Amino acid sequence: MKPLHTLSTFSFKKVLHHIFDVDTEGKTEHGDINILPKHIAVADIGNSKIVVLIASMNKKGEIEVIGMGEEKSEGVVKGVVSNILKTSQCLKKALDKATEQAGFIPDSIIAGISCTINVHKHHSILTRKDSFLEITANDISELETEIHQSLLYSDEKVIYTTAQHFSVDSEHGIIDPKGMTGTKLETTFKLITCQLTYFKNLERCCNLLNITLKAVYPSIIASAKSILHDDEIAEGVALVDIGAGNANLAVFKNGILLHAESIPFGGNNITKDIAEFTGLPFNKAEKIKLQYAEAIHTNINSKDIIEIEVLKQRKRVVYKKDIAFVAQCRLEEILDLIDYSIMKHIQKENIVFGLVFIGGVSKTHLFKRLAKLIINTDCVVFPKTKLIFTSVKPEIKAQLNNPVYSTALGLLKLEIRGQ
Ligand SMILES: Nc1ncnc2c1ncn2[C@@H]1O[C@H](COP(=O)(O)OP(=O)(O)OP(=O)(O)O)[C@@H](O)[C@H]1O
Ligand SMILES: [Mg+2]
Repeated sequence: MKPLHTLSTFSFKKVLHHIFDVDTEGKTEHGDINILPKHIAVADIGNSKIVVLIASMNKKGEIEVIGMGEEKSEGVVKGVVSNILKTSQCLKKALDKATEQAGFIPDSIIAGISCTINVHKHHSILTRKDSFLEITANDISELETEIHQSLLYSDEKVIYTTAQHFSVDSEHGIIDPKGMTGTKLETTFKLITCQLTYFKNLERCCNLLNITLKAVYPSIIASAKSILHDDEIAEGVALVDIGAGNANLAVFKNGILLHAESIPFGGNNITKDIAEFTGLPFNKAEKIKLQYAEAIHTNINSKDIIEIEVLKQRKRVVYKKDIAFVAQCRLEEILDLIDYSIMKHIQKENIVFGLVFIGGVSKTHLFKRLAKLIINTDCVVFPKTKLIFTSVKPEIKAQLNNPVYSTALGLLKLEIRGQ
């Protein structure tokens, strides 16, 4: 099959028309004018993998995931693009796989990143000219505009804004002010920013592929959209994604985001510790980790050994218990930092639904037991993603249920249904 990138615009339009039965005047077969198919492409730019999803609206108005591509990530360190060429090549490979399945080449993309983030509070006030007119979404957008015009974040990129409760004149604690009337509308926004250079580097990767980087979201916020349920967000829950580069955390209570943080340790640190301990190169240490690492080392027979090939014909024998011990030490450190970060912002008993863990590291054998021991609250590990979208291909549908793809799925949700 011809790579889609090589199609002429004419052939590409043919592919598009074939998929959506859109005639040359932009009408569907039902005769609706201007119902142009809405395509969305998203990419989870992780430290260890890049996942691309392409979705579109079908004739019934449902969102369908029509293409999926995954590729090992290179050139991303701690969520930051540090080698533009390498990352753009990996993104291209993931995109090619997704576009081949989708039969559609996106010209823009929405990305999720898991770099170091800063969280700010920004209080905005809007004095409305006509206090008898109902408050609309436009008024709320105006409040938000103030953030983007502020010089406070000039060397940072605002990648997520979410309003806390609103006040309309003397009435406070309003969750949604739309439809109310009043003169003074105010709220405090929670903003998540990253360094502007992080965004620029990713933008450069996309530009090399002739794709516009339309928006960037923090990966943990995207994952929350596809993992957490409304009652969890209302009653209190902490979502923790321990990936290869970072451990990202977001705490929700009373329907709002209370706290978010990126802790700069993840699975790669465990692998590096094992590499240092065994003298193995990173790639081999990664294999040993996936095979033998455990979150609790105490019950492993102290005589169990593993024979590993350090160099050609040079073997080394290590105790299985030692590998688990190395992994446990780093996991304890990460979990302690998560515990401290949560405690700084909320009393744990207020997180009624406890902690929900996703990210590859939480697949470590006995992880849940260690997490419960350290954080001393309810822990759920690797829940199923919410089935938000229909999928045209059964093989995609089967994969989408895996929380590994929660960030990419959540990006779609953020873009389609808003924040
Ligand atoms: N069964 C397992 N046991 C232990 N570690 C695992 C297991 N499976 C995956 N990992 C580790 O999880 C990490 C990858 O997780 P994930 O796919 O969530 O990362 P990512 O999304 O690419 O990274 P990030 O979110 O930090 O950008 C790797 O360090 C990998 O070694
Ligand atoms: Mg991730």
